[in-house]
Amino acid sequence: MGSERKNVNHLLRLALCAFAVLFPLTLSAQEVAWKTGPEAAAIERRIDGLLKQMTLEEKVGQLHLSGRGDGFDITQIKSGRMGAVMNFVVPAEVLEVQKAARTTRLKIPLIIGLDAVHGFSTYFPLPLGQASTWDPKLIEEAAYWTGREASAAGINWTFAPMVDISRDPRWGRVLEGAGEDAYLGSVVAAARTRGYQRGGVATSVKHFVGYGAGEAGRDYNSTWIPTSQLFDLHLPPFKASFEAGSMTAMAAFNALNGLPATAHRGMLTDLLRGKWGFKGFVTSDFGSITELRLHGIARDDAEAARKALLAGIDMDMMGDVYHKHLAAEVKAGRVPMKALDEAVRRVLRVKFHLGLFERPDVDPAAAPALMQTQAAREVALKAAQDGAMLLKNANETLPIGPAVKSVAVIGAMARPEDERVWTDPAGLGRRVVQALPEALKERLPADVSVAYEPAFTKACGTEFADKDAAIRTAAASDVIVAMLGEDCEFMGEGASRTKLDLPGVQQELLEALVATGKPVVLVLATGRPLVLTWADAHVAAILQTFHGGTEGRNAIADILTGKVNPSGRVPMSFPRSVGQIPVYYDHLPTGRPQKIRQRYESIFIDEANEALYPFGHGLSYTRFSYANARVSKPAMPLNGSVEVSVDVTNAGSRDGQEVVQLYIRQPVASRSRPVRELKGFAKPMLRAGETRTVRFKLDAASLGAHDEAGRYTVEPGDIEIYLGGSSLTSVMTQVTLTKS
Ligand code: BGC
Repeated sequence: MGSERKNVNHLLRLALCAFAVLFPLTLSAQEVAWKTGPEAAAIERRIDGLLKQMTLEEKVGQLHLSGRGDGFDITQIKSGRMGAVMNFVVPAEVLEVQKAARTTRLKIPLIIGLDAVHGFSTYFPLPLGQASTWDPKLIEEAAYWTGREASAAGINWTFAPMVDISRDPRWGRVLEGAGEDAYLGSVVAAARTRGYQRGGVATSVKHFVGYGAGEAGRDYNSTWIPTSQLFDLHLPPFKASFEAGSMTAMAAFNALNGLPATAHRGMLTDLLRGKWGFKGFVTSDFGSITELRLHGIARDDAEAARKALLAGIDMDMMGDVYHKHLAAEVKAGRVPMKALDEAVRRVLRVKFHLGLFERPDVDPAAAPALMQTQAAREVALKAAQDGAMLLKNANETLPIGPAVKSVAVIGAMARPEDERVWTDPAGLGRRVVQALPEALKERLPADVSVAYEPAFTKACGTEFADKDAAIRTAAASDVIVAMLGEDCEFMGEGASRTKLDLPGVQQELLEALVATGKPVVLVLATGRPLVLTWADAHVAAILQTFHGGTEGRNAIADILTGKVNPSGRVPMSFPRSVGQIPVYYDHLPTGRPQKIRQRYESIFIDEANEALYPFGHGLSYTRFSYANARVSKPAMPLNGSVEVSVDVTNAGSRDGQEVVQLYIRQPVASRSRPVRELKGFAKPMLRAGETRTVRFKLDAASLGAHDEAGRYTVEPGDIEIYLGGSSLTSVMTQVTLTKS
């Protein structure tokens, strides 16, 4: 099955590439969005009409989501027993299933979903790498092209964006999110939602809620989240996504404070539908309804189905549980028909608002022309360039200067056979990804030699191929570029780790490379922040990426050679050791703060408190300085706002982008407040020597916090405002919040 699948993909890839070259035409994207006013009212009437005609089995069918692969039964579509499918990516196959739905009695089209997490045909950096651009417009464009390519293949729904906040890099899925911060996470969530839906696919914001806080970073593990933290940290990115129009949501696998999220009526119904007014549907995660048995809250699948539906799960992803048990539960009177009708209404509503009843079916012959267009690849390149983080650059090792006449590129990851992608092996028409040695050669002067040694048998670096050859080549060069990191099974879902070192034998290689005495530039492609304490102390420079995608190695070569000035910033703190975790910038103060690092202060006796690379950190080939932090007025009422400005100077000799960050702190309030909280950022490009005033509007309403009852209040008092290029900045101004 697997290899058969790969062959199909390979053939398809070749065909698509050839087609794209021959017919570089573009089709118009089909933006999707909630309709309003009379159009929305007309949709509700059409749903009323359909509900009247539907049999019980047809209703349940709309809630049944099944996927391509073993056990998939197209006759369920033909008999009106399946309303949604997933993992179909080949346009001809998408057409076949959609056509099957259109021949049913009521001709209700399928919603066709896919994890188009960071690309469909063109691959963008992993979402964490997109977040490290700190550029919402660029992130929106990446999502737009992902949505547009997927919708060109007939897909109309994506299981993204994942907006789970995570402060624990042991969790393998941090790569799918935007890191540790509620504000950055919300900006990114909104940008990605807008982008995907503008590109033509409905989003399913996930995983509602708390999945990123699994105990010890172990996937699917329980979470314990106090109400105040749930509202201040975990819920805001979801809210931002819904406000940006997300049409669906996905419930989480985990138990939240003892109740599985898949059966959490408080979250799914009271908060989401009740307080937030969400009108779309909620899908379960993969098999998470039947997992309610294993969570220990359902005796059997029938009870699991009942509990999930009554809690507010409208669609059963890959569980077959609604399909098998829901009709009987309704007949037995344990699930009211009204509850079933509401769930069906929400699914149909999304289908109508998506325009699926009117949307022409995919044209398999036309689809390839929209894959890997020049425009999409340009966005992929820019996202990879602007998300790469220069974490260390001793003695201006980078960019590679004129004195360097030979470069050794070491590491199998530098020349991949293929790029790891989320949808693999479902991805469509991928192009071979650029190799780093070749990309460097193209950019360096002709008299600079570039040698390459993979050192390992595979990109994941679990075993050596020829270590000695790698060391010999490295020792004979002026600069060593070692491309290492996490690949294969070391990242993603189900890949929690307790050691955050370089997997396999990569550390051994790195130490041997450093022992040559030649400057080592460590280029990392990982799925999470690793513990880089040794590397930080021993290598000359570190350029961190979170797998850059189709154009990733071109972007790295652009930065190493100075064609592009790095501007990525840390979206998730890098710990110094696993024992420090969780480490994040917006922690609360303690009564025993670290002052002189002595006993009975809140410190570790064997480790620093601070992150190795804190949130917001990232170097540039130029330097930026800050002056004149100021507010437009010294005080503002609780419903007012103030303009905050600061003069930012590019004090170096190269043009560069700076991520200007605004943090606040309320030093005295009725509850302890974090030592810093991000409330704004901007990413201007400043020419060498240029000074620019960067302005932010700060709303008093955004400066409050939730209490344990879930109440949000903004309290009068002083607000310290910090401006600068990382969460550690000390450039400060102040405003006072007044009662009136
Ligand atoms: C993941 C979801 C994903 C789903 C479908 C699950 O295991 O948790 O995020 O959308 O699979 O692939």
